Amino acid sequence: MTITAPIPRAGYSVPRKWLHWGMAALFVTLLIAVEIKDWFPKGHLRALVMLVHTQLGIGVLLLAIPRIALRVRAGHGPDATGGPAWQERLAAIAHGLFYVVMVAMPVLGILTIQTREHDVRFLGMLLPNYFDDDSWLPYALPIRTAHEYIGDAVIGLIAIHWGAVFWHQRIRRDDVLARMRF
Ligand code: HEM
Ligand code: HEM
Repeated sequence: MTITAPIPRAGYSVPRKWLHWGMAALFVTLLIAVEIKDWFPKGHLRALVMLVHTQLGIGVLLLAIPRIALRVRAGHGPDATGGPAWQERLAAIAHGLFYVVMVAMPVLGILTIQTREHDVRFLGMLLPNYFDDDSWLPYALPIRTAHEYIGDAVIGLIAIHWGAVFWHQRIRRDDVLARMRF
């Protein structure tokens, strides 16, 4: 007997697909950059690897603007995958957390640097810094720690997200990827 799982109907809109895959590439690259930075001795090369991290991170923040706008306009997704309500709920929570981190992480990252009284530039442009006086110095370490801990949690979240897609593809066989495929 063949069991056929429900086949998802419509997918996400093309702009949402571009934003999803573009931002996924940014996340993966910036995370690899920060995780491998200690392989390099202090100097130009390590600074370059960190520059990749910070520039792509600010890129995430910029892309979050249209992405959130599209999410607000179009809602959670085109339709459900046909799974039980708790699975839909879990997926919605995970997706919601991604939306939170795509804003919170770059902001914390920028503040990590600015509260230590250093400049942050994006493509050569100096970002405004309202936190560069001594009174913000006590917050520098907590902000940095928050950025690092949440950053590590993001790696876990991506692993769970990927695992869920894998489970849908291989176990449930409902081709959830089709909703995000071009
Ligand atoms: C590792 C590779 C990835 C794969 C294979 C993947 C795959 C998918 C798929 C198939 C969906 C559609 C799920 C559904 O319709 O319910 C989806 C949705 C989503 N993914 Fe990913 N994804 C990946 C990485 C990421 C990353 C790094 C982020 C971080 C921002 C992310 C954020 C989201 C969000 C927020 C949604 C909900 C749809 C939206 O509002 O855009 N994904 N992903
Ligand atoms: C989506 C955006 C971002 C994510 C997911 C992210 C994630 C991370 C992670 C995982 C770490 C390493 C944590 C550890 O070593 O345990 C880290 C460190 C760091 N990030 Fe980010 N980050 C993002 C954006 C930014 C931005 C925009 C900036 C600054 C403009 C920034 C600046 C830093 C700094 C200064 C460190 C500390 C590096 C060190 O150990 O010296 N990050 N980030």
